[in-house]
Amino acid sequence: KELISEIDQTSIANKEQLEAYRMRFISKKGAVSELFDELKNVAPENRRAMGQELNTLKNRAQERFQEFTEQLENSADEKPEMLIDLTLPVVPNLQGSLHPLTIVRRRIIEIFERMGFNVSYGPEIETDWYNFSALNFADNHPAREMQDTFFISKSKGEVKDDVLLRTHTSNVQVRLMERQKPPLRSIMPGRVFRNEAISARAHCVFHQVEGLYIDKNVSFKDLKDTLYHFAKEMFGKDSKIRLRPSYFPFTEPSAEIDVTCFICKGKGCNICKHTGWVEIAGSGMVDPNVLENCGIDSQEYTGFAFGMGIERITMLRYGINDLRLFTENDVRFLRQFEGA
Ligand code: PHE
Repeated sequence: KELISEIDQTSIANKEQLEAYRMRFISKKGAVSELFDELKNVAPENRRAMGQELNTLKNRAQERFQEFTEQLENSADEKPEMLIDLTLPVVPNLQGSLHPLTIVRRRIIEIFERMGFNVSYGPEIETDWYNFSALNFADNHPAREMQDTFFISKSKGEVKDDVLLRTHTSNVQVRLMERQKPPLRSIMPGRVFRNEAISARAHCVFHQVEGLYIDKNVSFKDLKDTLYHFAKEMFGKDSKIRLRPSYFPFTEPSAEIDVTCFICKGKGCNICKHTGWVEIAGSGMVDPNVLENCGIDSQEYTGFAFGMGIERITMLRYGINDLRLFTENDVRFLRQFEGA
């Protein structure tokens, strides 16, 4: 009788309590079994009645056990947060990463901004005037062909009115000089287009950063110092630059800039074709004709300009040997720049 009321008063809140209940009333070593064991000591005339009572007790214990078990299961269903294991390691956020060309473009801008350059942008669809004529390309100059131009429409009148996709961001230099008086110190990042077959080294769409510095007494030494500093910032303090004489219609004198091949540290490798040097930019002193075309007095002002391909610099910086990787959008390639 006492055990029955104990059973009826018991309540269960968790698995441990359920197990304790099971040990006490259900298991072979529990209180109920003990009573069954004592049945043999009971006087024969009472045994039958006693047996019935014990069976009632046993059934009651089983019933309650069933109830408690169901009750525990239901309470777990109602509180699903109880099932979250807070000790598991966190699932990392899946974040995108910047494209390597974006990383390097931003780095180039940062380096020049610290030297006092600002950033200018201009149109990708341009007239011949801004892309060629103002930059001292004579109408039939062979240098126009150097740049495999995509034309959009040929003008019936003058060549300078042809419409095309810009072949360099020098068009922004012209627009800037037309709009603002010197001193000018600006860089022009942007997309450019040339009708070239796509290969590991060339693409018909690529990116440039050009630069322009115009003021009184700007000299070739300023050009050299600026690009030397740029190379050190971009490729490390062990990098050196080398200038080779070159030709552009819009600069005189002109120079091509080579930088130490940082992949082999000047010892010679496939990227630099065993010369230890890689060309990274064209440059020169702005031709007086260009200044005059843009309304700047070439007696009063001088300036330098340069232009570099962002793809080339990115390939050098990260040891990438095929330019097509930049546009294939293979995530196995792009993921390598997470956190770069
Ligand atoms: N505009 C030239 C090119 O795209 C690069 C350049 C810029 C060269 C400025 C000299 C000065 O090839």
